[in-house]
Amino acid sequence: NESPKLIIGNWKMNGLRAGTHQLMCEIVQRARGLPADVRLVVCPPFTQIERAGRILRARGVGQSIVVGGQDCHMSACGAHTGDISAEMLADVGARYVVLGHSERRQAHGETDALIRLKVRAAMSVGLVPVVCIGETMHERQEGRAASVLASQIDGSLTSDFDGILAYEPIWAIGSGVTPSRDELERTLYLLGGLLRSRLKKDDIRVPILYGGSVTPDQAHAILSIRSIGGVLVGNASLDAQRFMQIAEAAS
Ligand code: G3H
Repeated sequence: NESPKLIIGNWKMNGLRAGTHQLMCEIVQRARGLPADVRLVVCPPFTQIERAGRILRARGVGQSIVVGGQDCHMSACGAHTGDISAEMLADVGARYVVLGHSERRQAHGETDALIRLKVRAAMSVGLVPVVCIGETMHERQEGRAASVLASQIDGSLTSDFDGILAYEPIWAIGSGVTPSRDELERTLYLLGGLLRSRLKKDDIRVPILYGGSVTPDQAHAILSIRSIGGVLVGNASLDAQRFMQIAEAAS
């Protein structure tokens, strides 16, 4: 009776038209082996969301595999050159939106307060926000990981948050290094408690995903943790075979 595991692919700034077509077709072909209790979300760059979604729907897998964006603006519309609103994402078929990824926090100076406004914007148009949090190696070594995560949760989630939390330790992203299973279990337990005290309603269940150097090799060990809601995959999501092997490890 558990919720489906979510396997989210974040393509980051990768994906031209031809490559998107090919990758999506390969994902669809391999989707036959997808367990029923797994949901895939593919987050291409803005320019390829509509194309990716169209391929999924045309091939009849638009329910089990959906598309999402990698960011949205906090406002509904207006004079924001170069930005994309949550409604624009929903309009091209996105169902999810990744918010507060550490690459945006670092390269675009995104703060918890800004991310909270983006969460509100996403929820107001029915998009599921996937909020990323995570500590740096330095914060970890100083023993400050728990307090950093607590303040990110307090600052970036609304009290009526109804979405997904992605725990992405910054030191694990793109590094090939992942936390041990024990460490991850402890962090998930901590995050569960922090979420319960942040959220107003008891009946909202926020799945917690792990992200950072997830590959087919350790996907099963991570996804077999009882309290994990799924994984957020960067690099390995650009290869259909590796991405789908991760998804298959979820059941
Ligand atoms: O959003 C995805 C994460 O940044 C993880 O990226 O799997 O390439 O380490 P990675």
